[in-house]
Amino acid sequence: MKKIVVLTGAGMSAESGISTFRDSGGLWEQHRVEDVATIEGYIRNPELVINFYNERRRQLPTVQPNRGHELVAALEQFFDVTVVTQNVDDLHERAGSSKIIHLHGELMKATSTYSPNDSRQIVTLAPDHLDIHLGDKAADGSQLRPFIVWFGEAVPKIEDAAEAVMQADICIVIGTSMNVYPAAGLVQFLAPEAPIYLIDPADVKWTSGRHYTHIKKGASAGMEELFEKLKVEK
Ligand code: OAD
Repeated sequence: MKKIVVLTGAGMSAESGISTFRDSGGLWEQHRVEDVATIEGYIRNPELVINFYNERRRQLPTVQPNRGHELVAALEQFFDVTVVTQNVDDLHERAGSSKIIHLHGELMKATSTYSPNDSRQIVTLAPDHLDIHLGDKAADGSQLRPFIVWFGEAVPKIEDAAEAVMQADICIVIGTSMNVYPAAGLVQFLAPEAPIYLIDPADVKWTSGRHYTHIKKGASAGMEELFEKLKVEK
């Protein structure tokens, strides 16, 4: 079976009703990145940051995977697929993808302020206890915090992601502006002969220098088109 790596960003979930970050009306127009998505912001005002992610998390039960997520999962009928996502939602899981690497953490999980990447500290929040509160404790006694990789923090999953990209025969990129490193640098690990398909309705500034085929459509329509093509070529 050929291997496919699918790199996804906020645009993957846009048709499910989750805001992207950098489009007009996106989350970073309404919130300052420095306040809600950096370790310094968290130290300055933990309550603001915890509440920002509580709000994002409360949205999850109200949204559903879109056709794009479903077709990424359906690729597993024909290919060995690894999804490398910058998204913190659980829509790839709910659509049925089986191998998912979350580069920037997971909204449904919480962890320790002292050792955020210690697997013993990471807990999955229950659907009826979605909010984290100031005063909630991790197993090590520190304040429980969202399991999100903030700007300025290490990205521990980047090595697993690079490995998946290195082994891939085909790469699909869906809905990311390729602004945030190290995620944006992952395509450099791709074998020179592996084709890249980019699904994004907008022109994406792509600095890798690699050739790619741009399917200039949204995630659902773009995946419909690409799924048919790849199914034939498998
Ligand atoms: P961005 O908001 O930067 O980019 C979203 C991309 O999705 C843009 O290229 C849009 O054109 C595209 N898009 C919009 N609608 C779409 C649709 N229906 N179908 C497909 N694509 C669509 O989001 P990311 O690149 O994911 O990190 O942002 C990367 C990281 O920056 C995030 O993980 C987050 C953010 O700050 C952290 O918070 C650490």
